Amino acid sequence: MPNFIVEKLDLYNFRNYASLEFHPSPGINFLTGENGSGKSNLIESLYSFCYSRSFRTFRDRDLITWGKDESRAALSGSGRDGRMDMSIVWRAGQDSKTLKHLLIGKSSCKRASEFVGRAPMVLFSPQDLEIVQGSPVYRRKFLDILATMLSPAHLADLSDYRQILMERNRLLSAEKPDPAQVAVWTEQLIGPGAGIIRRRLSAIKMIKEHVKGVSSRLESEKFSLAFKYLGSFPMPEDENDIENAFRKKLSETASEEKERMATLAGPHKDELLILLSGRPVRSFGSQGQQRMTSLILKLAEAELISGKTGTTPLLLLDDCLSELDEKRQKQLWGEVSLHGQVIITSGHPPPGWMKSEKMALFGVEGGSLKSLT
Ligand SMILES: Nc1ncnc2c1ncn2[C@@H]1O[C@H](COP(=O)(O)OP(=O)(O)O)[C@@H](O)[C@H]1O
Ligand SMILES: [Mg+2]
Repeated sequence: MPNFIVEKLDLYNFRNYASLEFHPSPGINFLTGENGSGKSNLIESLYSFCYSRSFRTFRDRDLITWGKDESRAALSGSGRDGRMDMSIVWRAGQDSKTLKHLLIGKSSCKRASEFVGRAPMVLFSPQDLEIVQGSPVYRRKFLDILATMLSPAHLADLSDYRQILMERNRLLSAEKPDPAQVAVWTEQLIGPGAGIIRRRLSAIKMIKEHVKGVSSRLESEKFSLAFKYLGSFPMPEDENDIENAFRKKLSETASEEKERMATLAGPHKDELLILLSGRPVRSFGSQGQQRMTSLILKLAEAELISGKTGTTPLLLLDDCLSELDEKRQKQLWGEVSLHGQVIITSGHPPPGWMKSEKMALFGVEGGSLKSLT
């Protein structure tokens, strides 16, 4: 299977990088540097090419170097479809709005869904423990990233849904919302809402098999994870009926919605239960089991994306080693070293057992990068 390989990354006024030209090796790259040196910023810039947005912030303005008004990132790489050049420009606009331009080669993308999926990557960061331990938001985001990788149209539905939801909520918080107008927004909400739910369900179905394989490899058959999608309305047997079920729920909650001045059902309220031996791992799992679960989810994600895109994704491991004991670190390494291109960051130099001639070592310091090999 071909690997997706980043050959060059250029940054200009991105976070703490005034300018950077990074040529990673096609194998394993180990970036080490002190806290605050810019390791996660670099990972964030790379992952933006996969998902078209930051994994750390919703505010694009945060990405532009303080005091500047434009930021650029460019990536040259190769994958299943040959060579490719992609770039992103963030420009600070009026009223704290930030304009973002996504380009493939020289042509600009009208929608983010045209951009995503071309640079397959999987990101593993300490934040991922929140998928297991945190609020439902993190699990929805995990599913939405998966669903987007499987079908970029998901991103368009997500952004439409968010906008329509905002409008609908604005209307519901008016003194006397006009029912006819609410009904218009309700109908608008249902299409993208049902699309989001359908793709999430299919993402769960697809990741299940990979989770099974990875868990039995890393743990044992007994580490058996299961998933359950808890909708904010009863999920119909037939997925084609989701629209109707959603519509029915919104009509049932109409008076409560008026009282609470918000949309009370839909994919923004749904939850994914992750069960270990039948019990929610979030409340019943030990710290160790929860860590293991998040690691398994991410490795399964990498497998799923490989299978789906026919390309081994770039693996980004941001500061994950320090969270694991040595046994787990070695296990993770066993999986990672069989992978294609890997970029891994750490506050410490690589431990002795990890060193190999094939590993490229870089030092990060105050927004600059130098090769240490
Ligand atoms: N928009 C920005 N402009 C300039 N510097 C920034 C910006 N955003 C973050 N930083 C700097 O980046 C540093 C954090 O970098 P980060 O990559 O998270 O560090 P680490 O190496 O610990 O992962 C912060 O200390 C902050 O000073
Ligand atoms: Mg960091």
